[in-house]
Amino acid sequence: MSVCDLILGQTFDVSGNPMTSPWQEAVAVTRDSAVLLKDGRIEQVGKASALRRQHPQARVTDYGDRLICPGFVDAHVHYPQTAIIASWGKQLIDWLNTYTFPEELRLSDPDYAGIIADRYLDLSLAHGTTTVCSYATSHPASVDAFFEAAETRNLRTIAGKTCMDRNAPDALCDTAQRAYDESKSLLEHWHGRGRAQYAITPRFSPTSTPAQLEALGALWAEHPTCLMQTHLSEQVPEIEWARGLFPTARDYLDTYEMYGLIGERAVFGHAIHLESREIDRIAETGAALVHCPTSNTFIGSGLMDVAGLAARSVPLGLATDTGGGSSFSMLRTMAAAYEVAQLRGTALHPAQLLYLATAGSARALHLQDTIGTLAPGYEADLTILDLASTPAIAQRAAEAENVWEAIFPTIMMGDDRAIADVWIAGKRWVTG
Ligand code: GUN
Ligand code: ZN
Repeated sequence: MSVCDLILGQTFDVSGNPMTSPWQEAVAVTRDSAVLLKDGRIEQVGKASALRRQHPQARVTDYGDRLICPGFVDAHVHYPQTAIIASWGKQLIDWLNTYTFPEELRLSDPDYAGIIADRYLDLSLAHGTTTVCSYATSHPASVDAFFEAAETRNLRTIAGKTCMDRNAPDALCDTAQRAYDESKSLLEHWHGRGRAQYAITPRFSPTSTPAQLEALGALWAEHPTCLMQTHLSEQVPEIEWARGLFPTARDYLDTYEMYGLIGERAVFGHAIHLESREIDRIAETGAALVHCPTSNTFIGSGLMDVAGLAARSVPLGLATDTGGGSSFSMLRTMAAAYEVAQLRGTALHPAQLLYLATAGSARALHLQDTIGTLAPGYEADLTILDLASTPAIAQRAAEAENVWEAIFPTIMMGDDRAIADVWIAGKRWVTG
């Protein structure tokens, strides 16, 4: 018989969507709570005293006042950009040409791709992130390197080969046919294997010909359980570029829509400068948008209208966008989301920020029944937050009049020191 683990602490409990209904009705923090883990899944969540009584044989880990959260879900990252994070002085197109493409070329070496995948996943785990949805490079072996590194750690992940057949260095470009063939063979190998899922991944319409977008639209139609991830309306010069390359498109979104690259399982990163037709179409189709606030300020892209899009019931995820984003930390990313929303006149509540980093991102990735929530049947990926991880945070939390006031300083000022522990599929993760 397998041993059960009983995890005690305060739990972050999600029963609804605090972006579309009052947060008090959707989210709660419960004191003296417990989570029972069995065979990699959450078996029960309830009062600590009751669960202790019911499961005297369980192995107990008592986290006291620490906050037991679902593992953080980072809904848009580029693991190959790990080594160029925090590169100075460029906006999107120059940043891609100066820093990103040269680094992505280095991942033509599968050994280097493996080293970066290991480094990336260890950094993410150290920051409490248990699931990421990543772009690889255009090299198929970079997809294998990522999924193999994730498999070693037993992580639930999503990734795909980044497809490009123009406006990038020749050695990073494939063709329409190669993008189709290589993506197909990768998804046939990885999609649904263990905890891996595949995302069909055109980088963005400026680096794909119409023929490539059409081929990837056809592939997605043949494999509709895969996600399709790409970038949308991140920066104004990018939008003008896309419009020039696709003169018959009604808007940027239409450069994807024309080729069947929109739908429930479409995940668009950034989506800052949207036109009203685009918002209507996204809301109508059920496509998800991913907010990347540290990236959007770091690369100088703009301020996403999170409140406005949530009001249209668009599923929203949250992401670091490593390495356009300036951090591996979803705590830092929640802080940036708060700051960006403030600049647009909305104060996101800590309950909403934590939701976006867990159940919200899981929903955006169509994993809402699998991860991101502490409830029976969910996979047991947990992140335990120390709410007094530094003297500055501790003195602020000590003055808190309620639990949200105690959590907010960790969201705003916390880093990897706030990550007390991480559990992956029911097992405590131990570094290295
Ligand atoms: N648009 C196209 N490629 C990228 C990328 O790698 N990072 C960001 N932030 N935006 C992109
Ligand atoms: Zn990106």
